[in-house]
Amino acid sequence: MSDLHHAVSLLKEGKLIGLPTETVYGLAADALNSKAMASIFHLKGRPTFNPLIIHTHSLEALKEDIIITPTARLLAEHFWPGPLTLVLRRSPHCRIDPLASAGLPTLAVRIPRHPLALELLKLINRPLAAPSANLSNHLSPTTKDMVLKDFKDLYVLEGGPAVVGVESTIIGLEGDVPTLYRPGGIALEAIEAVIGTIAQPGKGIHAPGMQKKHYAPNHSLRLNAVSKNEGELLLGFGDTKNADLNLSPTGDLTEAASNLFYMLHLLDARPSKGIAVSPIPMIGLGLAMNDRLKRGAVRD
Ligand code: TXA
Ligand code: MG
Repeated sequence: MSDLHHAVSLLKEGKLIGLPTETVYGLAADALNSKAMASIFHLKGRPTFNPLIIHTHSLEALKEDIIITPTARLLAEHFWPGPLTLVLRRSPHCRIDPLASAGLPTLAVRIPRHPLALELLKLINRPLAAPSANLSNHLSPTTKDMVLKDFKDLYVLEGGPAVVGVESTIIGLEGDVPTLYRPGGIALEAIEAVIGTIAQPGKGIHAPGMQKKHYAPNHSLRLNAVSKNEGELLLGFGDTKNADLNLSPTGDLTEAASNLFYMLHLLDARPSKGIAVSPIPMIGLGLAMNDRLKRGAVRD
């Protein structure tokens, strides 16, 4: 049996698998199976108020589950398959388990671009819920080995290193104004070029499940560091001197995003007094990187 057929049969039995996507690896399960949904929350140690993203191979496949707005169609045409998640209203006949929505009247959906993920979704022809394949609050995995560090018995499809390296951008389309719930793998500027201004958090907007602390390495993180202190490791960007690793020596934000979680993971495995990170500009994918770093720097 091929790896893909094995993955399909596990999913049909209600089991969980590791799914490579272009952003990060996901912990995927059949979104129509409530037991499988409960297992995702249980295995990750994820609070049940934090809803999941539903992955599909086509918008049409979910037409009885969600209310598809004209803006959703426009964004889908431009960015799918790709690292964009849209939050839409659940339709009255929605088949997706309510646990995936954490009881909310909305559903987050995306079509991933990774060829293996797309092939699997077409083959099984059922929506799959997939949070990032890490224990709650840990770094998101961008390789199969990183997934196996947190879930050693999981069946994980090998899809190579994730090319985007940060999670999808999440846009809320359930209300009157499109809203940014999470900066991610598609730059906000690119989305605004298609649909105009998008409301941003900070002005009373609260995205469900977006915790202050998240994506944390074991070592402490010191952000916007201009040099490294005694005993620290330095994660550089651009022409940083004395960097232990550099996200992108040429200052390319796309390259830096693809290296972010993996390099943090590598530095975290070395003894140190903490990880210092060079400043990263707040443009393009820099928004998503700074968001992950800020949450990763929060200590209990
Ligand atoms: O790139 C990605 O999006 C990856 C890959 C595997 O597809 N998945 C991912 O899932 O990042 P996760 O569970 O780590 O993050 C999902 C986030 C939640 O924390 C929540 O903030 C948001 O999606 N979300 C899910 N459903 C939502 C909803 N109905 N309304 C608002 N936000 C929602
Ligand atoms: Mg996650």
